[in-house]
Amino acid sequence: MVDRDHDRWLFKGDTELGLQGRDASTPAIQRRSSARLWGLVSLLGLVLLVHRLWPGTSIISCAFPGQRGVPVIEVCPQVSAIAPSSHASLVESLDQEYATEEFKLKAYESLGGAVRIPTECYDDLGSPLEDPRWKVHFDFHTYLETRFPRVHSSLRRTKVNTYALVYHWQGSDDSLKPLLLAAHSDVVPVNPATYEDWINPPYSGYFDGEWIWGRGSSDDKPGVIGSLTAIESLLERGFEPTRSVILAFGIDEERGGITGASAIGKYLLETFGEDSISMIVDEGGSGFSDQSGTIFATPAVAEKGYMDVRMDVLTPGGHSSRPPKHTGIGILSNIVTELEAHPHEPELVRGRTYYQGLQCRAKYDKGFPPELRKLVQESQYSDGKLHDLEARLLDFDPTFYAQAGTTQAIDIVGGGVKVNALPEAVWAIANHRIADHSSPSALMDRFASIVLPVAAKHNMSLDAFGEVISADGPAWGQIRLSDAFNTALEPAPVTPTTGSGPYELLSGTILSTLKTNLRTDEFPSSAVVSPSLSLDTKHYWNLTKHIFRYGHRGATDSYNGAHTINEAIRGEGFLEQIRFFTRLILNADETDLLG
Ligand SMILES: *[C@@H]1O[C@H](CO)[C@@H](O)[C@H](O)[C@H]1NC(C)=O
Ligand SMILES: *[C@@H]1O[C@H](CO)[C@@H](O)[C@H](O)[C@H]1NC(C)=O
Repeated sequence: MVDRDHDRWLFKGDTELGLQGRDASTPAIQRRSSARLWGLVSLLGLVLLVHRLWPGTSIISCAFPGQRGVPVIEVCPQVSAIAPSSHASLVESLDQEYATEEFKLKAYESLGGAVRIPTECYDDLGSPLEDPRWKVHFDFHTYLETRFPRVHSSLRRTKVNTYALVYHWQGSDDSLKPLLLAAHSDVVPVNPATYEDWINPPYSGYFDGEWIWGRGSSDDKPGVIGSLTAIESLLERGFEPTRSVILAFGIDEERGGITGASAIGKYLLETFGEDSISMIVDEGGSGFSDQSGTIFATPAVAEKGYMDVRMDVLTPGGHSSRPPKHTGIGILSNIVTELEAHPHEPELVRGRTYYQGLQCRAKYDKGFPPELRKLVQESQYSDGKLHDLEARLLDFDPTFYAQAGTTQAIDIVGGGVKVNALPEAVWAIANHRIADHSSPSALMDRFASIVLPVAAKHNMSLDAFGEVISADGPAWGQIRLSDAFNTALEPAPVTPTTGSGPYELLSGTILSTLKTNLRTDEFPSSAVVSPSLSLDTKHYWNLTKHIFRYGHRGATDSYNGAHTINEAIRGEGFLEQIRFFTRLILNADETDLLG
């Protein structure tokens, strides 16, 4: 446990920094590149009032209402570890059982058996009733039934959209909002060309004494098997929950959950209603990792938005013996060149999740460069320093661009049918992950503002997401911009952190699980909890404000990344995940932090 009163956040070698006497009138937020952007937009785009009514997410929560420059809000506040108290002896005896070789081998084999069922997810899967490729999920259901008999006799299981699973563990007090644990049972396919490169075969589920091998061993079968194992163990001890627990297992998370999680979300909304869940813990991308000897656990509380923009360039056809100076392909290239010449700038915004994470690193990571730490401190009050810091981060943090900005990747291009025919219809699609402080509508405005001069230069009219801007007089052709698959997504509502009961419960549970860990490798037992960003729980947004994407697992518990060869999880890492689920269920059951 990190000393929570350690709020000077200076380490040996750092210079003490006075915090007094700052100018309180300095605007708390200055959105520099935004201002630049809006200048551009208003110049070119007065014509173009593409103001859509997306629900606003641009409210910048300003955590620095400092009076006379004195910080009112503590930086990266930490809570104390929370261990089950009325169930203290239960959790203790379970820990003793979890530490036995017999339990470990059984749990590892539960995961191994799940890995051996290749629940591969494909982008083009059809409806569950028609496409036979779904059927493997029946085998998975049967496997779960045999492996977790108590769960299946005590919990109510509902199959949603045929293959997705919801388990309901009824609590004795219906006035308490249920705890929801979410995971997914599908995996990305294994490329047959890589079979040879696997140390152990991709669907072996083999435990080699340290690692459990195979596709899904990390992403995300531990989420499914870990929570079921925890509940099976609790049932074996006769535990009966006061607060209901719900498990929701998607079947096509790897293509956005359009069949599984979306149907589960709808089912839960119909069954329980809006804002009916106390908190959701979903696998997310993040767990914990070691920074210069301090463990940082980073539950994700924010998610970027999403949008694929399609560009169509439509020009008159004809014989290519008398071509125009620029064909549709040339014009499309011009657009792409302009887009790439004007990428979205990442932006450091006070109070936003990335900035908060940076403050936590600066405050608690002993290896954080001292001069950057100083900048982070000063940036709380000085806009100039905030911008200096922003510039430094491009080098310092390779993830800064992706985390704090809207990314743009032109990923698909098409057009042209014959070498002697002018291409009449040429197109490309750009993929975007939208910064949490921005929105699809800001992206569309900006996109249009970049394409408009290209359209003008080539005597083309522009249809920007339904808003047509004609050239003066007749145009030679048209450039059309649209939402490629109608999948635009606002950044997620940010889950409350500091001062929020669910965040405190989650943080406290993470800390107590680490503190009591059963690892045999002298893993650190204290940690800092720091909020972070990730993707993708959109199907559950209306069920609660308190959505956390967090898998209790260390960065070094994965042998290799997910979605690639040699996916494997360290057995002892998986065991800690089971312990985390156990503690979370018990803590949620006896807490008053969830309301
Ligand atoms: C634009 O193209 C149209 C159709 O080819 C043509 O009539 C018009 O003169 C062109 N305008 C300019 C400014 O080149
Ligand atoms: C969530 O609630 C909002 C506002 O009530 C509504 O517009 C939206 O359609 C809901 N989403 C889902 C997935 O039900």
